Amino acid sequence: MSLASPQPAVLACTKSEAPTSQRSISSTRLQAPKPTLAAIESLIDEALEASIASATGPSTPPTLAKALRYAVFPGGGRLRPQLCLLVAMVESGGWPPPDAIHAAAAIELLHCASLVHDDLPCFDDADARRGRPSVHRVFGEPIAVLVGDALIVHAFHQAARGPHAGALVKTLSDAAGSLRGLVAGQAWETEAFVSLEEYHRAKTASLFEAAAAMGAIASGSDADRWRELGEALGRAYQAADDIADAIGNAAVIGKPIGQDDAKARPSLVRSLGLEGARRHLATLVEDASASAMRGGGGQLLDQWLERVAARLTELQ
Ligand code: IPE
Ligand code: IPE
Ligand code: MG
Ligand code: MG
Repeated sequence: MSLASPQPAVLACTKSEAPTSQRSISSTRLQAPKPTLAAIESLIDEALEASIASATGPSTPPTLAKALRYAVFPGGGRLRPQLCLLVAMVESGGWPPPDAIHAAAAIELLHCASLVHDDLPCFDDADARRGRPSVHRVFGEPIAVLVGDALIVHAFHQAARGPHAGALVKTLSDAAGSLRGLVAGQAWETEAFVSLEEYHRAKTASLFEAAAAMGAIASGSDADRWRELGEALGRAYQAADDIADAIGNAAVIGKPIGQDDAKARPSLVRSLGLEGARRHLATLVEDASASAMRGGGGQLLDQWLERVAARLTELQ
């Protein structure tokens, strides 16, 4: 489900600078007087461009290089890196510091990896993602497995930068891992008995929580203040995704629908029915807003949260 609306870039480089793919993020010249959501979206895409450029080179097999780029561009909603940067901006009181931009790229790379693996025949066997054929449909299964692997490796490479590298890597590995992270979330699908709450936390909320926490860590601040907001938002997001899977329009959301029923996946709609799921989503969105208010967010974060909350409920 994509929540992004394409926005014009407000960042630019001087003519003497190298192309985006060869620049470091810190060489970007910020032209907007004040940070805007559109500027944040541009920063994220620039950081991802730089990441993919540094993950590929003349020695990378060309099909793998092409597939890596295909998995990351064009993006979907880019919500997790946006959350990371918005938290970093509240904590640093202005533009996000370079380490937060690397952290945001790390989170999105891990997310893209999870989507590539999730679409594989051994998981959801999905033909489409972000309105295009999924990575394995275009490049074949072996390359899709390797694209996911490479993006995971590179996500950690991005996180392991700057003075807060240790805490950033630890937070990202909690979100990815087998304790309560993405790997655990996907593995719950193979079990006969599943707690829906635990499943949603692991497969989706863990990465949102890490996004918020990493924004704070990269700014040298306390992560704990932000974890609750990230988790609440992630739970709401997965609830909305379950509803979209039941009643959404595949052409609009850019991926197949009806998968939860077809594959007997645990889902909010299967547990509570459509009306129950809608009520639960409304509660989760309220939880996220309440948690944001307790966290004392900044103007831009509040504006973004309102936009996300409106989209989550309006899609239903
Ligand atoms: C899809 O996430 C997987 C879920 C956890 C629901 P997104 O809907 O954020 O995917 P993109 O990045 O926007 O395509
Ligand atoms: C996605 O879960 C969560 C991941 C860890 C990738 P889903 O399988 O429900 O997400 P979509 O609907 O394919 O995006
Ligand atoms: Mg899945
Ligand atoms: Mg899926």
